[in-house]
Amino acid sequence: MTARLEMVAVVAMARNRVIGDGAGLLWHLPADLKRVRALTMGCPLIMGRRTWDSIGRALPGRASIVMTRDADWTGEGALRAANMDEALDLARGWIAATEGARPEIILFGGGEIYAAGLALTDRIELTIVEIDPDGGPAAAVFPELDPAIWDRELLQEVPAEGAVPAHRYERLTRKVPVRV
Ligand SMILES: NC(=O)c1ccc[n+]([C@@H]2O[C@H](COP(=O)([O-])OP(=O)(O)OC[C@H]3O[C@@H](n4cnc5c(N)ncnc54)[C@H](OP(=O)(O)O)[C@@H]3O)[C@@H](O)[C@H]2O)c1
Repeated sequence: MTARLEMVAVVAMARNRVIGDGAGLLWHLPADLKRVRALTMGCPLIMGRRTWDSIGRALPGRASIVMTRDADWTGEGALRAANMDEALDLARGWIAATEGARPEIILFGGGEIYAAGLALTDRIELTIVEIDPDGGPAAAVFPELDPAIWDRELLQEVPAEGAVPAHRYERLTRKVPVRV
């Protein structure tokens, strides 16, 4: 029997839930990027094809599982998944086959992929950026969270400094785990 795994969404969103303009991020938080690296190292990442395009390469020490409906799509160092079930199978297979892999599947975004995977997610590592950007016509957003389903813990508040806006780290844990 395969052990069941925890799916963890890692996301930075603005106060108005915007996470990007469809092509990239709307802020630069160097400390948050380091935190994302630490949270995801040794894990498979499930991401949408537009998020893959915005990063432009496979992230080292992790599997890049890219969801796309284009059967001919390829990306160097990426694993293509036609749907969420296929993405989860690839993630489980990568964890089983990779020495030192952690038993966590990371829901890496963007907006479409968070929406598709939230119901299967047990934990959200959330950065809330204290701004309300207009993400433009292709803005991506993080779904609304029902407080009846999630326990919320404030981990750290970071004041604004120079060009870096104030932000805070929260951990949301599903009251009744789903496991994937
Ligand atoms: N702030 C954060 O933490 C964070 C994290 C990640 C991304 N982002 C931002 O989010 C934005 C991108 O988000 P987005 O919502 O525009 O795009 P996305 O979720 O990254 O990718 C969307 C694409 O994924 C594929 N897809 C979606 N649902 C699918 C399904 N059920 N089955 C198979 N393929 C599926 C489709 O690819 P095809 O069109 O190829 O079929 C679709 O066009 C960017 O601005 C990025 O910078 C922010």
